[in-house]
Amino acid sequence: MRSLDDLLAEGVSGRRVLVRADLNVPLEKSTGEITDDGRIRASLPTLQALRDAGARVVVAAHLGRPKGAPDPQYSLAPVAVRLGDLLGTDVPLAGDVAGDDARARTGALGDGDVLLLENVRFEAAETSKDDAERGGLADRLAGLADVYVDDAFGAVHRKHASVYDVALRLPHVAGRLVATELDVLTRLTQDPERPYVVVLGGSKVSDKLAVIEALLPKVDRLLVGGGMCFTFLAAQGHGVGRSLLEADQVDTCGRLLAEAGERIVLPVDVVCAPEFSAEVETTTVPVDGIPDDQMGLDVGPRTVESFGRELGGARTVFWNGPMGVFELAPFQAGTRGVAQAVAAVDGLSVVGGGDSAAAVRQLGLDEAAYGHISTGGGASLEYLEGRELPGLAVLTERGEA
Ligand code: 3PG
Repeated sequence: MRSLDDLLAEGVSGRRVLVRADLNVPLEKSTGEITDDGRIRASLPTLQALRDAGARVVVAAHLGRPKGAPDPQYSLAPVAVRLGDLLGTDVPLAGDVAGDDARARTGALGDGDVLLLENVRFEAAETSKDDAERGGLADRLAGLADVYVDDAFGAVHRKHASVYDVALRLPHVAGRLVATELDVLTRLTQDPERPYVVVLGGSKVSDKLAVIEALLPKVDRLLVGGGMCFTFLAAQGHGVGRSLLEADQVDTCGRLLAEAGERIVLPVDVVCAPEFSAEVETTTVPVDGIPDDQMGLDVGPRTVESFGRELGGARTVFWNGPMGVFELAPFQAGTRGVAQAVAAVDGLSVVGGGDSAAAVRQLGLDEAAYGHISTGGGASLEYLEGRELPGLAVLTERGEA
């Protein structure tokens, strides 16, 4: 896989460089404001290096999951503004993905200029399962540039036109963010320093079963919190009241518990409430005492202590998924406690994307205390599952950038 430094060594001054970045940031629903710009900031090292070298930079990115047609609520307009602020330059937004406006604006770029294309998912071809359909869009994207840089680590698990097909059409290299993320994930998968502890949370156990199966033989401890813990607790025979439960996964969780023995560690207490609200009165109960009419919405303080003990001795930690509904104050303590314990790890600590990265920032924790905060949620998990990621596989084919 060729690197950005290989490309810079060849010289990019005056060349048009198409950068696929993951700028899929959360927006506040009513105001449309960016609530966490971590992914935009993570894209800066590659973009800045290209600008400094005099490249004409064309950035392609997606936002949310629009239905394959322009939809103003998914416009990258707020992202263009924030990217411009962070780069200290004007970043215009093309009115389309790879149409007339994108072509005209690309043609007018000067050395060191940056243009953001409109949300690539405004074209149905971007996510199409049909190779020829994706290829048509990839041809138009490739026509905008001389070289392709993939820096969208969070999207490398998608076989999409701007992630996969365009790399078949242009000389290509991996950007700085992709290189950093891969470096860290390699350290987690190849001979991690032990004890190796993984903390998984989030709501749906069905989303995490594949990664649990893949990780179990490799980890010393797997700590399970979040909404997904209730299906495991049900498999142990506990009543879980009105907590999140995937009844069709109880048997699978039971088998995993039997296979893993003491390597899977479950909560010992949970914070319950009759409803999902910031004003509600909560009760903390042991896991065998969840009232029938209540739901567990966070792990309790004894669980934070128990998880903290496991994390205290760890030398390598990967954490993905909040321990509770941390967006609401009464259910933040579990995620905060685990986040603090992960930050204190004496060794490599990796926060795996999406909600956990947002939790670290929203709870006001010090990002610098972690070894690495990944920008990839699904992408990191699929990497750890050992699956081939299309956006990375295509980069390993040699490109003459
Ligand atoms: C993410 O948010 O994990 C990436 O940006 C990929 O988005 P997607 O799951 O909508 O493909």
